[in-house]
Amino acid sequence: MKDAYSNKGMSRLTVTGNPAKALREALEREGAGRVAVVTDSNVEEKVMPMFRDVTEECETIVIPAGEEYKTPETLIEVWRRLSGCGMTRSGLVVNIGGGVVTDLGGFAAATFKRGVRCINVATTLLGAVDAAAGGKTAVDLDGLKNEVGVFRQPVEVIISASPFSTLPERELLSGYAEMVKTALLTDEAFFHELLDARSVLGDPARLEGAMERCVRRKMEIVASDPEEKGPRKMLNLGHTAGHAFETLSHEKGRPMTHGAAVAAGLAVALRLSVERCGLDASISRDYEQRLLRPLYGDDWGLGGIVETDADRQRIVELMGHDKKNSRAGEPEFVLLREVGNPTVGGM
Ligand code: GLY
Repeated sequence: MKDAYSNKGMSRLTVTGNPAKALREALEREGAGRVAVVTDSNVEEKVMPMFRDVTEECETIVIPAGEEYKTPETLIEVWRRLSGCGMTRSGLVVNIGGGVVTDLGGFAAATFKRGVRCINVATTLLGAVDAAAGGKTAVDLDGLKNEVGVFRQPVEVIISASPFSTLPERELLSGYAEMVKTALLTDEAFFHELLDARSVLGDPARLEGAMERCVRRKMEIVASDPEEKGPRKMLNLGHTAGHAFETLSHEKGRPMTHGAAVAAGLAVALRLSVERCGLDASISRDYEQRLLRPLYGDDWGLGGIVETDADRQRIVELMGHDKKNSRAGEPEFVLLREVGNPTVGGM
């Protein structure tokens, strides 16, 4: 039996065209006793058939699909099912799904009997390049996102483009924005490669190669600061304005995807980087002209969400209240001096 996992060890990453085979091998490698799968009703219908041979012996816990179910009530239900199936500390939880499943299932595993190992198998692009890796787990509380959770690294993260054939385009684009964010934290060549979004998204092998680069870069950043006390904050590039756009879009009843909001937020961060940190203006221009407008539209995908002075005022207010700010009321932008050279705090 392997030791129950710790925060210090980083996860193994497997990028593969055959995620079911990779999961079988991971279970053998981990020598797990009891195995429980956590998934959601959408994934259960559309993606789980590809894993059936591997998971048929496992307890399968299906939670309802959607962020509105990422709650303590759903978590309690998962704990009950883990208890009911006799999960022990030497067992393993396999989360198969997008960010809601890996956040909630990861939290259930991290807290059940004080910590059971988990493997995350991402079924969305956003999950693959962001939520599944890095060890953030959480549930929402009374509408507050990720209000309760812990940092615990999964023992393994398995990513593949094969489940994406069932994803609507807006979900793919949502994940793509997080990839571009990571490329901006890596190097110019990678950023320029991702500007050709349609070709990357249209070629599974190329997409998997780019996803792998993103997750490896994320893991490198997380390894330097697993609990987000400093350098990990660079992963919030584009998120200060992005979260404000996302929240306002919900307040106005026209919800944007997380990634679409981040895509617009990245444009704000890049313009500010040019003004305040001397970033080469061509980076901001290329981002807007070659990626943001072709993929999300001339209105940056904001679809009339930020129209009036009151809307703009609300955006400023929301940015000041972002829970990731170090000082209440002061937006803490991540900006770039150059691609791959970020600064946290705005200057
Ligand atoms: N989503 C940013 C992080 O994992 O830190």
